[in-house]
Amino acid sequence: MKIKKCLFPVAGYGTRFLPATKAIPKEMLPIVTKPLIQYGVEEAIKAGIKDMAFVTGRNKRAIEDHFDINYELEDKISDTDKRSLLEGTSQIIKECSFVYKRQIEMLGLGHAILVSQPLIGNEPFAVILPDDLCLGSDLGVIGQMKKLYDEYQCSIVAIEEVPREHAYRYGVIAGKEESKGIFRISDMVEKPSAEAAPSNLAIIGRYVLTPDIFSILEETPSGKNGELQITDALLAQAKKGRVIGYRFEGQRFDCGSIDGFMGATNFVYSEQH
Ligand code: G1P
Repeated sequence: MKIKKCLFPVAGYGTRFLPATKAIPKEMLPIVTKPLIQYGVEEAIKAGIKDMAFVTGRNKRAIEDHFDINYELEDKISDTDKRSLLEGTSQIIKECSFVYKRQIEMLGLGHAILVSQPLIGNEPFAVILPDDLCLGSDLGVIGQMKKLYDEYQCSIVAIEEVPREHAYRYGVIAGKEESKGIFRISDMVEKPSAEAAPSNLAIIGRYVLTPDIFSILEETPSGKNGELQITDALLAQAKKGRVIGYRFEGQRFDCGSIDGFMGATNFVYSEQH
């Protein structure tokens, strides 16, 4: 089965960016002139995916409005040279479908993914966490993983080497490198200490998941920080040899942190000027 849908879990608060995120979703913060969420959607499109699914929360309406027509504004700029500034976004709206579901309680990434089941159904799907902005590859990270899925037909997580003292920020994997950059995962731990980390290979915000993940999530108890963790559900698949870790091509910016956000801004700005 082909991957046709991409899930964006976007219910989180973004407290690290207060006061900027008091009234607008963190996913709407711009990297230069484009909101973070649009980069994520463009990466999915690059991978050939057209069906976008969002798990949203309260105060996230601006995301829905962004992927919709704004008649008044578009009418105002229709005869001016400003029109071109909206062309990319208008094209996305024309090309893709957008569906939304509210996550009523924020009980973790695993919970957000479980909540998305009615949007996804019984098929493999991609997940993009828009906080992790990935740039600098033609296919995009999700495009690279989609290709890999055709070959492996199992769940895939994108991984990156990080300093061990940063392990506490990530899910961390252990596995055997089967071919260059491709690991068969045997263990994974959510946000371990540097000492407890099984390696220095961290999961970043790109996943391909097979639909059995939903029934596994239903059975998975709360984990780290009392939250339902996707890492724990993936471990159940990994124990059956059904998860690949993929060291992706391109550059990742953690736009959930101020440093990463500034790094991405400088990168995009310097590419444009
Ligand atoms: C989530 C996952 C974690 C992963 C990270 C990537 O954590 O739980 O395993 O490494 O995304 O960005 P969060 O950043 O939501 O705390």
